[in-house]
Order: sequence, then structure tokens, then C-alpha cells
Amino acid sequence: GFFRWTYRLTLLSALGFTGYLGYGIYLLRHPAEQIEPDPSKKTLVILGSGWGSVSLLKKLDTENYNVVVISPRNFFLFTPLLPSCTTGLIEHRSIMEPIRNILRHKKATVKYYEAEATKIDYEKRLVYISDDSEIKGDVSHTVVPFDMLVVGVGAENATFGIPGVREHSCFLKEVGDAQKIRKRIMDCVETATFKDQTEEEVKRLLHMVVVGGGPTGVEFAGELQDFFEDDLRKWIPDIQDNFHVTLVEALPNLTRQILPMFSKQLIEYTESSFKEEKITIRTKTMVKNVTDKYIEAEVTKPDGTKEMEKIPYGLLVWATGNAVRNVVRDLMSQIPAQKNSRRGLAVNEFLVVNGTENIWAVGDCAITNYAPTAQVASQEGAFLARLFNTMAKTEDLESELKRLSIAQQEAKTEEDRNQIFDEIKERQRQLRRTKQIGPFQYSHQGSLAYIGKERAVADITWWSGNIASGGTMTYLFWRSAYLSMVFSARNRVLVATDWIKAKVFGRDVSRE
Ligand code: FAD
Ligand code: NAI
Repeated sequence: GFFRWTYRLTLLSALGFTGYLGYGIYLLRHPAEQIEPDPSKKTLVILGSGWGSVSLLKKLDTENYNVVVISPRNFFLFTPLLPSCTTGLIEHRSIMEPIRNILRHKKATVKYYEAEATKIDYEKRLVYISDDSEIKGDVSHTVVPFDMLVVGVGAENATFGIPGVREHSCFLKEVGDAQKIRKRIMDCVETATFKDQTEEEVKRLLHMVVVGGGPTGVEFAGELQDFFEDDLRKWIPDIQDNFHVTLVEALPNLTRQILPMFSKQLIEYTESSFKEEKITIRTKTMVKNVTDKYIEAEVTKPDGTKEMEKIPYGLLVWATGNAVRNVVRDLMSQIPAQKNSRRGLAVNEFLVVNGTENIWAVGDCAITNYAPTAQVASQEGAFLARLFNTMAKTEDLESELKRLSIAQQEAKTEEDRNQIFDEIKERQRQLRRTKQIGPFQYSHQGSLAYIGKERAVADITWWSGNIASGGTMTYLFWRSAYLSMVFSARNRVLVATDWIKAKVFGRDVSRE
């Protein structure tokens, strides 16, 4: 009996899953015909195709505006799984979703220009755009006028002006960065095993240094050590004794600073797990200069004295957080109310850029009370969609009310007048209801980070309490949570297949 029921249940869930996937794929392949929005409606320009902008687009009723999207990247990137792309555990295309697919599924058409916004003229309500891709047409610079503008351009990599960072290190923010790292890891390994290589040079080439102990640095270090343990040491046993990952952090201790969103207990768990994984953590080590073969860092010793130290490296990954993009800095300089803002666009509780009335900002380029995370950016985007949908409804209702009050004045009979009066009352009631949209409120769903060796840490809000957990079960939770969060059914299938592929055959160690 038990086995028959288990069999039936398995069959049923398999059927359910296949049906769900099939429906997802059908929807993806057969978008409905789109309507053209009314040209007399307002032009809403959205900059960027990241977490903030795409979450806005997902929920926006595009028939209410003439929507224009401008981004140099014609896809959305699921950044939480980007560290896995550096080792080939996940192929980068599995976590990309074309912006064209997203836009084609909207009810009314949306224009998309693959371009970078180089300047926003706040007074004239213009965005200057430039096509920076390899292939350019006769026109590659132009302007786009806007009535309403949403800035969702994210942030740049912070380098603090430290010499040599841009020339010699890899960042970890975009797909290209992950591809570059993947290539370099294998290049270092192959060069280290080159004939007659000196021992010192082998050590240098196999020293993988990560600067910045924030979540990006921690997750990447974990993925890299996994790559070594699971695959590299098996395929290339020569490198076993010398391959080494070091995480460098300027701040004094790992507690709090390394993963600021996690509790002390989880940070201690991360530290001890790294020790077990043989990843070296070097705190109180502030990088001051970078050359092609070593970094120079100021190390604070236990007695408080400081000393400069050269640390040779083969691969250097730079993950020291966010900086403001030029286009955002320039916009800030045009608005007096932004004078005291340093880290990005200061916004009010409705995400309106302070000092303006028709510009909004979402995600990493906006300064709010929350950390610059995907979770915050996507909630902000969804909030703006609600706000804009409401604004459009309000405008429709207001013009309808105007029309009705004229009709009421022109009405011939008492009966007509009364009927119109009732309609006006109803519209006014609807208007009051739609106008009730409150300010943006972030609801924290918890923090999750992968720390290597099939372990993850999680700080999850559950009902009204908090659950802090680390370990293998958390890792399984991390995997299933991210699998459910990736953008589309297509992404879900691709990511799951990549994981299975890596488990069965190991990661691919060929250098493209
Ligand atoms: P982005 O997602 O960076 O998007 C910015 C968009 O603007 C891009 O499409 C870009 O091409 C475009 N753009 C850039 N310049 C211009 C321009 N001049 N004109 C027009 N468009 C432009 N957060 C979490 O909550 N959980 C995680 O697990 C997590 N993991 C992460 C892992 C990594 C490796 C990284 C780098 C970040 C991670 N984050 C995570 C943080 C999260 O990715 C960011 O907070 C989030 O991407 C911010 O969204 P955004 O829309 O502001 O910017
Ligand atoms: P971060 O700002 O969190 O950390 C950067 C670290 O680099 C800091 O600890 C800083 O002290 C250190 N640093 C700066 N200059 C240095 C120097 N010269 N030498 C040595 N160390 C130096 O940056 P990160 O990790 O890129 O994260 C950016 C944002 O993205 C964060 O808000 C984070 O919450 C989010 N994120 C979230 C993830 C998750 O939830 N799993 C994963 C990755 C990012």
C-alpha cells in the first residue's frame, strides 16, 4: 500500500511539474499581440535593465504610458548566481533573460534602445544616449525626451582611486567579469604547470587573492575553493600543494564587517568553515597599490604597528563594494537639493529624487535606509509600478470626472442630471481609494549567502521571528530558493541542468 501511494504521489508531482513547465514554455513561446499605446500619453523613460528597472517593468501597465527602456545590456542578470559562473558551475546564459522577451510579453509595446545614458538634462527633460556596442550605425548618439524618468542604472565598482586596480584586477558585477575570471583561473593553472616554471612562480600563479570581505568576496572565495576541491585537484594533481585562496579585508575583524547583514553567530560559522576549507582570511590588511604580479597592503599588527607587505598573486578579484556612476553624479550636480548627497541620489519616501518632481530612482543608485541589494531594488521597482499604475488611473478618473461635470451641466432632464450625479459620486469614491497609496516600505525577507563546501548561511524572517542557520540544509534551501527566484521557466531549467551536469561530469576546465 505504502509503495503504491508513494508511486502515485511521485507520478502526480512529476506530472504537475511537467505541466507547470510546459505551460511556462508555452507562454514564453506564444506572446499575445501587443497594442500600441496612445501617443498623447506621457513618455516614461526607464534607465537600466537590472533588478530595479525589470521589476518595475514586470508589474507596470504599459498601456498607460509611452514606455522607453534604455540600457547598454539587453538582458536581465540574476546576480545572486553570478559567483557560480566564475568556475563554470553555472553557464552564464542560464542566468540571463533577454529584455526583448520581457518586453514582448507586456500588453502594450515598449521601445527599447541598447545604449548608455551619458547625460540627463534635468531642466530640458532630455536623456542623451550613446550606442557603445561594437557595431554602430550612422547614428550612434541621440537624445530621448521624457515626461517621467526612472533612474535604475545601478552602481559602479569602487576602487577608491587605488593605483593599478582597473588595469590588473577582475571585478565581479557583470557577465563579462565572470567570463574573464573563469578564463584567468585556467590560464593561471596552465601557466603554473608550464615546463621548467620556478617554484616561486608556481606559488605566485596559484595564489588566488580576493580583495573585499563583503558578501561578493566571501561567495566568490567559497566557489573558487569548491572548484579546486571538486575538480581542479582531480584533473590537474600537479597543482594540489600550491593552489591557495586568500581573502583580504581592511577592517579589523570578521565579526559584523565581513557580512554586515548576518548575525555574529553566522559570521563565526563562516569563519570556521573557511578555516576548514583552507581559505586564508587576512583582516586588518588594507590594499594600497596593485601591480601586475603583487598587491601592496598596509597590515596592522597585533601591537598596533603598521607595515607594508607585498602579496604576490596569480588571479586578483576586486570586490570592495559600490561607487556612484558618472551619469548619476552629473545629475546630482545639476540639482541643488542633492548637494550633500555623496553615495547616490537622495530620494523621498515615494522614491522621487529630492529636488525634482518627475524623476524617480531605484536600486543601487538611490540612497535609502536599506542596503544596496537585489531584494531592495526589486521591491522598489514593484512599488513604482504600483505608483505609476495608480497615477494613470487617477488621471483617467480625473478627466472622466471633468467630462461628467460638463455633461451634468448640459443635461436636459432632472433624471439625467441625477444619474450623472450618482456616477460622479462613484468616480469620486474610486479616486479617493486609488489616491490612498502609501510611501515605500521595505519588507525584509531575509539574507542568504553561499560560503562554499555545500554550506550556506541564512538569516530568514519567518512569521514574526528570525531564523539564523548555517550548514548543508541551509545550502539545500539556498539552492531551491534561488531556483524558484530565477527569472523564467527557461532559466529554471537551465540552472537545474547546469547543477546536475556539474555533479555528474564535473566542471569544464577548458580555457576558451
Ligand atoms: P543592476 O542590477 O546593477 O542594474 C543596473 C542596470 O543599469 C544594468 O542593466 C546596466 O547595464 C544598466 N546601466 C548601467 N549604466 C547605465 C547607463 N549609463 N545608462 C543606462 N543603463 C545603464 N543582492 C541580493 O539581494 N542577494 C544576493 O544574493 C546578491 N548577490 C549578488 C552577487 C553579486 C556577484 C553582485 C555583484 C551583487 C549581488 N547582489 C545581491 C546585489 C544586487 O545585485 C544589486 O543590489 C542589484 O543588482 C541592484 O539592482 P539595480 O537595478 O540597482 O542595478
Ligand atoms: P561590500 O561593500 O559589502 O564590502 C566591501 C568590503 O571591502 C568591505 O568590507 C571593505 O572594508 C573592504 N575594503 C574596501 N577597501 C579595501 C581595501 N583597499 N583593501 C581591503 N579591503 C577593502 O561590497 P560587496 O561584497 O561587493 O557587496 C555589495 C552589495 O551587494 C552589498 O550591499 C551586499 O549586501 C550585496 N550583495 C549581497 C549578496 C547576498 O545577499 N548574498 C551577495 C553579494 C552582494
